[in-house]
Amino acid sequence: MIVQTEVFKLKIDIVDYQDDEIISECMATCQEVTCTQPLSLVFADDKVSLINLARQKQGGISVDWGTGTMKHRMNYGGGRNSEAVAKAVLGQMKKPIVFDATAGLGRDAFICAYLGGDVHLFERHPCVRILLKDGIRRALQNDVIAELVHNNIHLEEAHTIFEYQGDVLPDTIYMDPMYPERVKSSNVKKEMDTFHYLVGEDLDVSELWDKAMHLSHKRVVMKNPKWAPIQNSKRLSGSVVTKNHRFDIFVPFEK
Ligand SMILES: C[S@@+](CC[C@H](N)C(=O)[O-])C[C@H]1O[C@@H](n2cnc3c(N)ncnc32)[C@H](O)[C@@H]1O
Repeated sequence: MIVQTEVFKLKIDIVDYQDDEIISECMATCQEVTCTQPLSLVFADDKVSLINLARQKQGGISVDWGTGTMKHRMNYGGGRNSEAVAKAVLGQMKKPIVFDATAGLGRDAFICAYLGGDVHLFERHPCVRILLKDGIRRALQNDVIAELVHNNIHLEEAHTIFEYQGDVLPDTIYMDPMYPERVKSSNVKKEMDTFHYLVGEDLDVSELWDKAMHLSHKRVVMKNPKWAPIQNSKRLSGSVVTKNHRFDIFVPFEK
């Protein structure tokens, strides 16, 4: 049976925003973006948010590292041994260079940077890049996290690790692709639903894993829902398991 999904053109609403460069980039890259629910990228109160127009009461999604949940995780997350993502990505390395190959809203990246990683972000979706640029801009105005973000979080010009040509080489490459089941799951965060309507499912996970295995020097970490199969059990060196997820750690290919 073929299920037809309705397609909507992303709306862009500019109300009140200070950074003309980010607005220009959005106009150049996001005008043709489509989504599977009516979504709007709203520039208001000097912040960019993604809003689901069918569920406006939910509020917007934005990159907010210095407030709310992220602030709580920073203050009470318990450090490298309690934060599963940091345990898997950073291990015992003092200041590893981490490539986050699927940056999204940069929450995992921020936690890894806060706990000692030097994190480079790769994100291919143009609207998510706008959300990230806005989040970084606001983080640089926040006294508590500005230095951390300035020194340890870098949004790469290359949108994917396939295009990366830089000199810095990663100790760890982390990937957290989008799975369709995240939307079907009953306890999935509503915020993730909206994100899914914009980004869709990532269908090239195997190619990304393969590239990461060639590029990374010490480890490749892939976050999966618990039910998902292991990408390649022959290269697996361990997993960090949480209630709903597994962070599989792989030994990269020999260079
Ligand atoms: C599940 S989200 C990541 C969430 C992120 N870990 C966080 O903490 O916010 C996946 C993101 O990866 C991006 N993505 C997927 N495959 C990619 C690829 N090959 N290169 C760059 N970005 C990719 C998607 O556009 C999406 O924004």
